[in-house]
Amino acid sequence: MVNERLGLLPDYPFRRLNALLADLQPPADKEELIMSIGEPQHPYPEFVNQVLAENSGLWGKYPPTPGTRELRESIANWLHRRYELTSIQIDPDRNVLPVAGTREALFSVALMATPQETSGPRPAILMPDPFYQIYSGAALMAGAEPLYLPTSEKTGFLPDLSRLSEETLRRTALTYVCSPSNPQGAAATLEQFNQYIEMARKYDFVLAVDECYSEIYFGKPLPGILTACDQLDAVTKNVLTFHSLSKRSNVPGLRSGFVAGDYQLIKSFGQLRQYTGTASPGPVLAVATALWKDESHVAINRKLYQEKFEDAEALLSKHPCFYKPEGGFYLWLKVGDGEAITRTLWQKAGVKVMPGRFLSAENGNIPGASFIRVALVHSRRKTAEGLRRIAALL
Ligand SMILES: Cc1ncc(COP(=O)(O)O)c(C=O)c1O
Repeated sequence: MVNERLGLLPDYPFRRLNALLADLQPPADKEELIMSIGEPQHPYPEFVNQVLAENSGLWGKYPPTPGTRELRESIANWLHRRYELTSIQIDPDRNVLPVAGTREALFSVALMATPQETSGPRPAILMPDPFYQIYSGAALMAGAEPLYLPTSEKTGFLPDLSRLSEETLRRTALTYVCSPSNPQGAAATLEQFNQYIEMARKYDFVLAVDECYSEIYFGKPLPGILTACDQLDAVTKNVLTFHSLSKRSNVPGLRSGFVAGDYQLIKSFGQLRQYTGTASPGPVLAVATALWKDESHVAINRKLYQEKFEDAEALLSKHPCFYKPEGGFYLWLKVGDGEAITRTLWQKAGVKVMPGRFLSAENGNIPGASFIRVALVHSRRKTAEGLRRIAALL
């Protein structure tokens, strides 16, 4: 009756977490601290509601699939400013496509990239392991074989494509890379980005770079895949970057982001998206336009995260499992048995975290199994309280 591929989808991590903790009660005398989910809790800029209200007349109109010219322009200008692009020209009409949050776009890019009629071997989709779970669900639903590239301290927590066989690379349709990565907060260097780009072009696959945490960093702005394209040869061939307002501007409920890059791919993606019905409503497009134009709220937001990571360093640096990530808002702590510690933290400290195993593939050796992921999304006070309780139990 239904698509049999649905049966291949693993249970989502939050359901697995609920099942893991179902028989436990957190302490009655402690405030529960939910640090398992990466939902930003900082305030969003006040002008969001104002722009929404000013554009409320647009609820009465069907929105265009490629968004508005103003939005695409504000995105293209942002990319030029943010990545100091000097040789690449991001054309708002050819290289940019607004999306309803990167989650849906990261999912549907697999449908666009996976050949369905093939006389050769089954198409493969490569992804880091551990990873944002949408990548594997997308690969499975598109009919591709998900191939998990284990990442660890040794690989700088980023996937290494150079070890793959010719046979694998030749059947690769799409590769997901996340930088800064969820869960480890690792950022690709320009050399790594160059290697990914060169491989994507040599074997002609789509390189999908998930940069939704790009604005949360702790030193200088981190380079992006477009910085690499700009410096390598000034073209975006085979490359798509995915950006979101959810973490940058604290509006995960707005469902707004964009994809930018190779115009042939943007064109095909646009064609698919006419059918997937994922155009954002007009008032949302107007808010997104204003948000990409404003950098002051992003700087304030970044500072709030920086303060919390300083607190984390002060509270946890004595523990050998602690390292300060290069970006994003998670701690990735090597604690031994991640599931056992998750249970202890909930039962004894009332702190909910995510075991790394649930962010990995159940595929032989599980690279996330000895880790927990802790999201530093709450206020500074609440976050420090959670970290103190974690430090006491490690
Ligand atoms: C790595 C990664 N990519 C993409 C997303 C999706 O974000 P959104 O759909 O809100 O843009 C998330 C959300 O948590 C994420 O962690």
